Amino acid sequence: MLRELTVSQPDGGTFDIVILGAGSGGYAAALRAAELDLTVALIDKAELGGTCLHRGCIPTKALLHAAEIADQTRESEQFGVKADLVGIDMAGVNSYKDGVVGRLFKGLTGMLTTNKKITVIPGHGKLVAKDTVEVDGKRYTGRNVILASGSYSRSLPGLEVDGKRVIASEHALKLDRVPSSAIVLGGGVIGVEFASVWKSFGADVTILEALPRLVAAEDEEISKALERAFRKRKINFKVGKPFEKVEHTENGVRATIQGGETIEAEVLLVAVGRGPTTKDLGYEEQGVTLDRGFVITNERLHTGVGNIYAVGDIVPGLQLAHRGFAQGIFVAEEIAGLNPAVIDEAGIPRVTYCDPEIASVGITEAKAKEKYGADKVKSYNYNLGGNGKSQILKTAGFVKLVRVEDGPVVGVHMIGARMGEQVGEAQLIYNWEAFPEEVAQLIHAHPTQNEALGEAHLALAGKPLHAHA
Ligand code: NAI
Repeated sequence: MLRELTVSQPDGGTFDIVILGAGSGGYAAALRAAELDLTVALIDKAELGGTCLHRGCIPTKALLHAAEIADQTRESEQFGVKADLVGIDMAGVNSYKDGVVGRLFKGLTGMLTTNKKITVIPGHGKLVAKDTVEVDGKRYTGRNVILASGSYSRSLPGLEVDGKRVIASEHALKLDRVPSSAIVLGGGVIGVEFASVWKSFGADVTILEALPRLVAAEDEEISKALERAFRKRKINFKVGKPFEKVEHTENGVRATIQGGETIEAEVLLVAVGRGPTTKDLGYEEQGVTLDRGFVITNERLHTGVGNIYAVGDIVPGLQLAHRGFAQGIFVAEEIAGLNPAVIDEAGIPRVTYCDPEIASVGITEAKAKEKYGADKVKSYNYNLGGNGKSQILKTAGFVKLVRVEDGPVVGVHMIGARMGEQVGEAQLIYNWEAFPEEVAQLIHAHPTQNEALGEAHLALAGKPLHAHA
């Protein structure tokens, strides 16, 4: 599709920046560089937009929205509305999802291919010199090079993903049916999102997680709340026991976890993390340092080799599209000599779109205690039970704030339906190092879920309204 949409390709050439990979990190760098009057060659072997647009954020969130509609239909009677959920038409769900992706793809393609400063090069690129990427025998030289080759679904040693019974997220996104039952291997972000979708669509779901809790990177209280909510939704999960093996059965798969317990299902989704796409791309040959495949950079995203930078999922840290955008913009500005501020990884907002949603920014209470000392850290949980809009939605959850005593808020952790939408204000609070007393002066509209964030700050500032201090 990219080949059809792009006009003509030059036979190589020299540019201010050559970017290898047109996912979130790569295309953001291209757009910002073009704004700064720099010429860009943007190389990708697949569709512009990368994992996020085609196999990640966007299609999964469309599935999650369809899942929410299914649940609301099922539960409509609670709101006095009579409706029956007749079934899930996966062809219809997929066409809705693909329509969203298609429209965004068309918009992005138009934006990049009509930009006079950006030359889109379709094809497989390889770094063949410190300043050159080769595509189909043509050489594109850059005064600067940005590596932005993204990530792939990882598996475990000996666990073969066949795309049919043992699948990765890209296969799960394309299923033409709702599996009657599913094992989800990994209780991280991808695992809990797909578990949530499939349960809403009517599947019997079991998550297997090696660590002692689901979404282990989140604050412990968030994990506990998610586990309670999943129990209520009858999503099964087994934590603290690593997966051992999977066998094919007549109609599906049988997974064995440590201790010998077995679970059977129609499909097994492997969601044990994403690995960096850095193999056979010439990075190491040109002297770029890799650590378990990830590209090592300094805090300014420079690889230490020539004028080569790296952005996105290949750089160790959070593998999030908006981190890729931010890093892409950062590097373009760095190359243009604007000396941008270094990105604080903890200040990147995180949202997991399962039901209930999880949103967080900053550090967990445990990390804050490690960093500042247990006696210097205070936390407060505002229960959504006291929030009118959340009660209208019939959702449970809380906003948890972590602050340094007589200091700023260093962590905001939220769970509940639609709480992802609250992360915008939370990230301003964290990144501006606001004190609860300062946030308490700001007025939050009533009745909104956003009020819960305001109320939590009022309480932490010692003047609770609809809460106890
Ligand atoms: P993840 O790192 O979030 O979770 C993988 C989980 O698999 C971990 O909890 C790990 O303990 C578990 N695991 C590993 N080996 C295991 C074993 N042998 N047995 C049982 N459990 C095992 O990775 P995930 O969920 O695959 O996501 C990949 C990346 O994509 C993440 O960095 C995530 O941030 C990103 N992503 C972000 C989304 C969002 O922002 N909403 C949505 C989906 C993915």
